[in-house]
Formats: sequence, C-alpha cells, structure tokens
Amino acid sequence: MAQTKPAAIILHGRTQRQLSNGLADWDEIAKGARVRDVISPDTLFLGNGDVLSMAHGVELTTQYGLDGVMVGRGIFHDPWLFNPAIITPSIDEKLTQLILHTQLFEKYWAGKKNFNILKRFYKIYTNDFPNAAKLRAELMETSSFEQVYQIAQAAKLSYAENPVD
Ligand SMILES: Cc1cc2nc3c(=O)[nH]c(=O)nc-3n(C[C@H](O)[C@H](O)[C@H](O)COP(=O)(O)O)c2cc1C
Repeated sequence: MAQTKPAAIILHGRTQRQLSNGLADWDEIAKGARVRDVISPDTLFLGNGDVLSMAHGVELTTQYGLDGVMVGRGIFHDPWLFNPAIITPSIDEKLTQLILHTQLFEKYWAGKKNFNILKRFYKIYTNDFPNAAKLRAELMETSSFEQVYQIAQAAKLSYAENPVD
C-alpha cells in the first residue's frame, strides 16, 4: 500500500479458509482502513461482506470509518438496493424490471447463454405478493422473451385491475 498507493482497496471480512461460512468481521476490515489512514490516506477503502441494504451499507461505512462498501449477494436479495427512491418496490415495478431484465438478456446474450439462467432472477422479482407462486411457476416454463412478456404483462394488468399492494 505504501509503495503503490492504489486508488482504492476493497477488503472482504472473511478469511479464504472460511469460504462463505460465518459473517464477515468488520472489526478486521476497520483495522485495514486504519493502516490506510497512516500509510496511504488518499487510497479509498471499502468493506465487503453481508451488506443487504443501502442503509446497512451507510451504517457500516460510518461505524467503521470507511469510504464505502461493495455489495455482492445483496443485489440478489434486492435488485433495487442501489436506488434510494425505491425501498419497497410495487408489484408493477417488480414485473416491469423482470420484463426489462429479460429484454436485455435477449438483446445481449440470446444464443450465447442459456435462457434458463434467468429463472433464478424471476424468483427474486416474483416474491412477497399474492399469487406470486403461481406466476413464478408459469415463468419457470418459459423459454423466450415473448412468452415472458405475455405472462408478465397479463399479470401487470390483472394486478392493476385488482390492486393488492
Ligand atoms: C455471483 C457471484 C460471483 C462472484 N464471483 C467472484 C469472483 O469471480 N471472484 C471473487 O474474488 N469473488 C467473487 N464473488 C465474491 C464477491 O466478490 C464477494 O466477496 C462475496 O460475495 C461477499 O460479499 P457479499 O456478502 O456482499 O456477497 C462472487 C460473488 C457472487 C455472489
């Protein structure tokens, strides 16, 4: 750090031996930041491990004297994590993003990646609302953007006509 003066350092709070077991140790991350304070104060220092929301990230940044955090799996729990305007996405917003996500997949990866890799994301977008399980089951059977669009668009209209959130 002292010799190369990197622009930024991101430190994960688990050892290699731990793999993904246990929680990240932010006291250890802070120790790294304090070394940075002394030997390379212009280097940004970010922590990583188990951050699940924007508020949580801001809290950790303040509490441990960091410049910020990096988010990994948190984005799979909440794809809106980086958008402070959307704390609780509506059903319509969830389905809009599901359609957009599929559209972008078609645009960039059609024929290159298996369509089924989208299914794990469909589980994230179709959660925590009435009849979500039925919608999810229908989406699991799809194999093209057109099919997904038809199903998600019909669901959007149906929820708009019969509001539940
Ligand atoms: C889908 C996915 C892919 C990842 N790929 C890599 C990788 O290629 N190299 C790496 O060092 N870490 C990788 N990681 C680990 C993350 O960089 C991060 O350290 C880890 O997920 C812990 O942060 P989190 O608790 O915010 O998820 C990956 C994590 C995820 C969820």
